[in-house]
Amino acid sequence: MHAATNTQATAPDVSGIDIDARYKLARELASQAAKEGMSRYLERNRLTVEHKGNDQQDVVSEVDRQLEDLIRRTLSEHFPEDGFVGEESGVAQLSARCVWVVDPIDGTACFVNGLHSWCVSIGMMVDGEPFLGVIADPNHKELFHGCTGRGAFVNETLLGVSEACEISEGLTGVGTFHPRGKEHFLPFLEKLLAGGGMFTRNGSGALTTAYVAAGRLIGYYETHLKSWDCMAGLVLVAEAGGRRNNFLRGDGLLQGNPFLVAAPGVYEQLANMVGASLDQD
Ligand code: IPD
Ligand code: CA
Ligand code: CA
Repeated sequence: MHAATNTQATAPDVSGIDIDARYKLARELASQAAKEGMSRYLERNRLTVEHKGNDQQDVVSEVDRQLEDLIRRTLSEHFPEDGFVGEESGVAQLSARCVWVVDPIDGTACFVNGLHSWCVSIGMMVDGEPFLGVIADPNHKELFHGCTGRGAFVNETLLGVSEACEISEGLTGVGTFHPRGKEHFLPFLEKLLAGGGMFTRNGSGALTTAYVAAGRLIGYYETHLKSWDCMAGLVLVAEAGGRRNNFLRGDGLLQGNPFLVAAPGVYEQLANMVGASLDQD
């Protein structure tokens, strides 16, 4: 039996925290950043694109940095006491009860290549647990949002995970992180296909996670994700009735970990295909 977590089981006492104001601001800010991102996307041939480190697939543009600056500045103007973890600008005040975890553009490779699957992802933890999340996808005019105890939605529509009980009943999202090695990916794909499953990869971990919450995908495995890729999505999956692995174990918030989210009926099947490395270092 693999460990799996549901945020509702460990929901913190938030009576002293203005969750409504934070949830509202997160939705407004993600929508604003996505709108600004969209106008830059439409003129993307003017962008300067850089590679991060030695991984030629890991790209960043000036838009990523500008949107993260906008999000970080606005959050700190409204809630200076809150902490922050951002892909582009680093961390602040990690001991705060509320810590925002932000990916200004998830799916940058899609963004710079003219593919549609990119989004702005804003998550927030309370006392170390994913608590609220917003993912704005301007290409499809979808705003995914959720808050612990209040459900998860796309625009105004309530989300629920798939009722699949077998991996052959739906599509599974996948992704792989070059530095972790293909030995953590190819055996999983082989088992998925052998079991009658099928895979899809769209280049945005945040959107793929949201699609599990929406029941469009039955699950999503990535060999290694960072917390900013999935913090918002984790809230959506929990609120939509899904399960996740022990993703935040160890230094998961800052360094990331293997990642699995799925509908309850197929979680064990997918976790067994990944093997023990899913929840062990
Ligand atoms: C990436 C996307 C991609 C996933 C990578 C991430 P980025 O984020 O989420 O789907 O496979 O591991 O790094 O670089 O586009 O923000
Ligand atoms: Ca990302
Ligand atoms: Ca990013």
